[in-house]
Amino acid sequence: MLEIEFHDREKEIREIMRILNSRPDLITFVYGPINSGKSSLMDEVVRKLPDDYVVFFIDLRAHVVTNIDEFYDVLFSYEIGLKRKITKSSDVISSILSSTVKFYSGFPLPENLISKVLKKDKPKNAFTYIFSILQELKSKDKIPVIILDELQVIGDLKINGLLIYELFNFFVTITKRHHLAHVFAITSDSLFIEKVFNEAMLHGRCRYLLVDDFDYNTTKEFLKKYGFSQEESELTWNYFGGKPVYLVEAIKNKDRLKEFCEEQLKLRVSQVLDAIYEIEENKKLFNSVIDLLKSLIDNEKIRYKKIDEALRFCVRKNILFLEPVNRIVKPQSQLDLLAIRDVLNERNSTSP
Ligand SMILES: Nc1ncnc2c1ncn2[C@@H]1O[C@H](COP(=O)(O)OP(=O)(O)OP(=O)(O)O)[C@@H](O)[C@H]1O
Ligand SMILES: [Mg+2]
Repeated sequence: MLEIEFHDREKEIREIMRILNSRPDLITFVYGPINSGKSSLMDEVVRKLPDDYVVFFIDLRAHVVTNIDEFYDVLFSYEIGLKRKITKSSDVISSILSSTVKFYSGFPLPENLISKVLKKDKPKNAFTYIFSILQELKSKDKIPVIILDELQVIGDLKINGLLIYELFNFFVTITKRHHLAHVFAITSDSLFIEKVFNEAMLHGRCRYLLVDDFDYNTTKEFLKKYGFSQEESELTWNYFGGKPVYLVEAIKNKDRLKEFCEEQLKLRVSQVLDAIYEIEENKKLFNSVIDLLKSLIDNEKIRYKKIDEALRFCVRKNILFLEPVNRIVKPQSQLDLLAIRDVLNERNSTSP
């Protein structure tokens, strides 16, 4: 079976390692277009970390979190393979220290502490427990790292107010105030990142790390490793730009590359058509969406002034990617740009 190796990201890895080698001060938001390789990058970083780092990975990707219990289920791991009976958090630390594992999916929580730590209306209890784990790890010269993937999943969850605020507060406490742990929050939801960006409580307390699709040269080098000719490589770039997920698929479909490219475009055109015909009845929104898409045809990216309904719609439908730091809007991928072009052409040819 064809094994595809992790490619490049040297600059991003260097930047993250630089952060991890200094005192935790800020929360790091890792953001970028969908499928740009954010999660893979963080996995690679974790693989490279020396043994004094202990990573807690909170993966909200595959979870629907609609209440606090479901959130706790992702935040904690209840079975930690502990042989001894554990009654306090310091025993959890001894277990972590004596283990060769340096990666945990969730914070280990012994069964007999569950009812004490996890209260339905008091997420603070859970944060206090995590705080004590981090503090004890730090006192034993370990460096805790918390990675949350797809944090926006809990963006609207309310437990006496929005849980996300409680969580942000906690992160500020463990980074800026106590320097206990590194915190990385990954998201591909650009409307969420935009909200975070404008959130007063986070000003001066976080940094933003953009993980974009590969650039032209990186894409070429990647494809070359798998025997792509100059021509095959150009064709792939013209359809998919440097979007890793498509490049991987193109590699797998190298023997029918042109066909594969066309299939993917056809699929994306159909999805974009579905999205925009959903709002056909709302003439005002529909026309603004068409105008917005038209403006992107000639310009690779545009600077936005404010996020109006049309822009919000296209971003929510993952047709456009919004980058609040540089106030830029662009198609989610080269394939989206091609699809937008086709959709607008099709409209022109079917309009009376
Ligand atoms: N640096 C890389 N080298 C090789 N393949 C990569 C790389 N980055 C990503 N990929 C491929 O692209 C796929 C998608 O990447 P990944 O899931 O990391 O993107 P993401 O930005 O986290 O996506 P999402 O927006 O859905 O969260 C991976 O499963 C992998 O096959
Ligand atoms: Mg991801």
